[in-house]
Amino acid sequence: MLPKQPKAMDFQSANPAHVAILEALHQACFPPKEAWSAAFFKGQLALPGTQGWVGLVPGPAREGEPIGLCLVRSQPGFGSEPGECEILTLGIVPAWRSRGHGGKLLAHALKEPMRRRERILLEVEADNLPAKTLYHHMGFREVALRPGYYGQGRDALLMACQPGT
Ligand SMILES: CC(C)(COP(=O)(O)OP(=O)(O)OC[C@H]1O[C@@H](n2cnc3c(N)ncnc32)[C@H](O)[C@@H]1OP(=O)(O)O)[C@@H](O)C(=O)NCCC(=O)NCCS
Repeated sequence: MLPKQPKAMDFQSANPAHVAILEALHQACFPPKEAWSAAFFKGQLALPGTQGWVGLVPGPAREGEPIGLCLVRSQPGFGSEPGECEILTLGIVPAWRSRGHGGKLLAHALKEPMRRRERILLEVEADNLPAKTLYHHMGFREVALRPGYYGQGRDALLMACQPGT
């Protein structure tokens, strides 16, 4: 049986030099029609407040083996209102799932937004049990249903987490 907790995971901040790796990871994590291109990642990373992360397992290669990705975008709040952070995408390649890496990568990506006490939002397909389980365990709650958001018969759940509550 695979160990429940990974021994370790490293994190690399993603910049435009990483778009080919991000594209390959996204293709491995999502169905072909939903996979983001390198050009799309380049555009996303260029938007203000966007932070990307590549998750690596330490290995013989100098930088380890890339096994997951996460992009988040923070927006400032008005006046004294705390800002908001949106999880744009999260994925762990299939061979490395169910070993705690998804939770570790997400926790790392949310460290700064949580420190800033931003409200964290995400959309997830209503029948995506692994992702919903992960988000529930990290303190997210369903706040809205978006029928047909991903196409006919494919609803989205809007989930939110307010750090400190
Ligand atoms: C969602 C995803 C990132 C989870 O990554 P992971 O590395 O398998 O997640 P973890 O091992 O950290 O598991 C996190 C929690 O989810 C639960 N979980 C993982 N796989 C599960 C499954 N197949 N069914 C039910 N729950 C599952 C685990 O029980 C775990 O909870 P626990 O720590 O309390 O036991 C991964 O399944 C994935 O990349 N899916 C495809 C892309 C995707 O759907 N991304 C989310 C889009 S919003």
